[in-house]
Amino acid sequence: MAEPLIEARGLVAGYAGRRGLAARRSASAPVLHGIDVAVGRGEVVGIVGESGSGKTTLGRALLRLIAPLAGAIRFDGVDITGFDEAALRPLRRRMQMIFQDPMLSLNPRRRIGRALTDPLLLHRRAANRRVAERMVTALLERVGLPTAVLQCYPHELSGGQRQRVGIARSIVLEPEFVLADEIVSGLDASTQAQVLKLLGELKRSMSLSIAFISHDLSVVRAVCDRVYVMAQGVIVEEGASDALFQAPRHAYTRALIDAIPLPVPDPNWLSQA
Ligand SMILES: Nc1ncnc2c1ncn2[C@@H]1O[C@H](COP(=O)(O)OP(=O)(O)OP(=O)(O)O)[C@@H](O)[C@H]1O
Ligand SMILES: [Mg+2]
Repeated sequence: MAEPLIEARGLVAGYAGRRGLAARRSASAPVLHGIDVAVGRGEVVGIVGESGSGKTTLGRALLRLIAPLAGAIRFDGVDITGFDEAALRPLRRRMQMIFQDPMLSLNPRRRIGRALTDPLLLHRRAANRRVAERMVTALLERVGLPTAVLQCYPHELSGGQRQRVGIARSIVLEPEFVLADEIVSGLDASTQAQVLKLLGELKRSMSLSIAFISHDLSVVRAVCDRVYVMAQGVIVEEGASDALFQAPRHAYTRALIDAIPLPVPDPNWLSQA
């Protein structure tokens, strides 16, 4: 791989106050125990592992939403491990996140048009609202939504449309890196395929780097170039998607694959969707 766009080296991270049961068990134990991962430019990298293995924590640490306890995070060749919020601010535009449930990240009382134009104005990517609206109209076409959704409130859209809005919002500032955390888990199979196909198109047209977190291995296999397998806060296996699924080396990976309720579908299902 060429110089990665984003990488973690020896990353140790966790939460100041662990909550619930975990808090009682281990007051300040880190969640991630020395993680090495990298995402190249234009690469889609999967992060898989059972619930609680630390996937979301890793994603949040990569975006520097939580501060590492040890190790380093580099973005575009710059060590951002110790950056404070002010130093991170210019980078925020370049690294974005698509949420699992766009309903939770979209303001229910704000029309989609505002949700998409506000970031452009806030980050001074558009001189005024009229310019921002023109840019957003072009963006909607790109994500396959009719311009009518600009006037809609989030609850007036279908789940698939809402996730397209979530994707549109994550790319409106033309980032280089996008973290996608379980972005299709709430959708039915055919809507999942459409959303993933869109993600693939954007990857190609914008040469986006994507970290794709999912517990659904058939989805990961279909969209990811490379995959990291996580268990209990460490990476247990890493490899090119096809190789890893065809010949998993680690028993944990094999168990994850065996746990898929249906036989692994045709890995090309997405390109036929
Ligand atoms: N905000 C938080 N505060 C304290 N502990 C947390 C917080 N978020 C997660 N944890 C703990 O960190 C560990 C890893 O959680 P994380 O959400 O990263 O796992 P995950 O792999 O994303 O799981 P899932 O597949 O269920 O989303 C868990 O033990 C969890 O309880
Ligand atoms: Mg998670």
